[in-house]
Amino acid sequence: VLCWFYVFPVYRLPRDKDIVEEVLRQGDVWHKNQTGIDWYRKLLTDCCDPRRMFAVTKENSPMGKVLWYDGEFYHSHTVNNETYPLFVRFQGAKCAVVGNSGILRHSKCGKDIDQADFIMRCNLPPLSKEYVEDVGTRTHLVTANPSIIEKRFQNLLWSRKAFVDSMKVYGSSYIYMPAFSMKPGTDPSLRAYYALADTSSNLTMLFANPEFLATVGKFWKARGVHAKRLSTGLFLVSLALGLCEEVTAYGFWPFSVDLDEQPVSHHYYDNILPYKWFHAMPEEFVQLWHLHKSGTLRMRVGHCP
Ligand code: CTP
Repeated sequence: VLCWFYVFPVYRLPRDKDIVEEVLRQGDVWHKNQTGIDWYRKLLTDCCDPRRMFAVTKENSPMGKVLWYDGEFYHSHTVNNETYPLFVRFQGAKCAVVGNSGILRHSKCGKDIDQADFIMRCNLPPLSKEYVEDVGTRTHLVTANPSIIEKRFQNLLWSRKAFVDSMKVYGSSYIYMPAFSMKPGTDPSLRAYYALADTSSNLTMLFANPEFLATVGKFWKARGVHAKRLSTGLFLVSLALGLCEEVTAYGFWPFSVDLDEQPVSHHYYDNILPYKWFHAMPEEFVQLWHLHKSGTLRMRVGHCP
């Protein structure tokens, strides 16, 4: 039977209802496809070189290197005595990428997620007791947009305690910040670095490399994802496909009803909706589902066994 992926060109997004029907049709069936995995790793390696490029490191950003902000034109940062020492030297297995969709609520996926070798999460998500069963407890890499530093932690211009304390739940993971994406984001990111370093935190700061963000953005644009900017979740999946032996994605479901047609909140912890035109999460979902169907990565969109 011809499914809608083949019937419609990728840029024409099917209706939510059709997507739900398609997902239901597929059910829990998933077969790993090593050819698909190798192919996507090659595509992403050729375009964006995730292993080498995903973060600003001492290797890819030596002193004097000009980093062009990928989220705006004409601004750059030249690596200098102040920023170079903050950059890390880097290196990946079975990875779990956890999006923040409400589909995770009551999913009981926590154990599954925690069994992965490398667990990536988006936007400093809550991992409190009430969510543990559904989202797990372990984290190896967590992203933080500078806008979160501004909104939740008064841009770190006042007390740093609340920030440092709330980071403890991520153990000794990497914190991945797009410090060089938007100019106003650089200072809060550097402040976050110092807030952690000054308190001997176990977290290691990784600054997202704007060159990587830009090339991954182009990669998905060429595959039909038309949005002002890719979502953090798709960046992490791209990174994982480049780095990991096997990738499972949880919490990617940008729709308002679940597979049983019950309402789903936007996040597993609240129902604050995103600004509509910034991301194209349903288009991203279609791409991810395509990869699920081809056995390249596994999507968990319902209950975990
Ligand atoms: N996500 C999803 N479906 C949802 C909510 C989130 O697929 N209902 C995925 C998206 O890939 C998103 C990621 O989970 O990037 C993290 O969610 P969230 O923190 O809500 O991301 P945003 O705040 O929308 O912003 P951004 O992607 O710009 O970080």
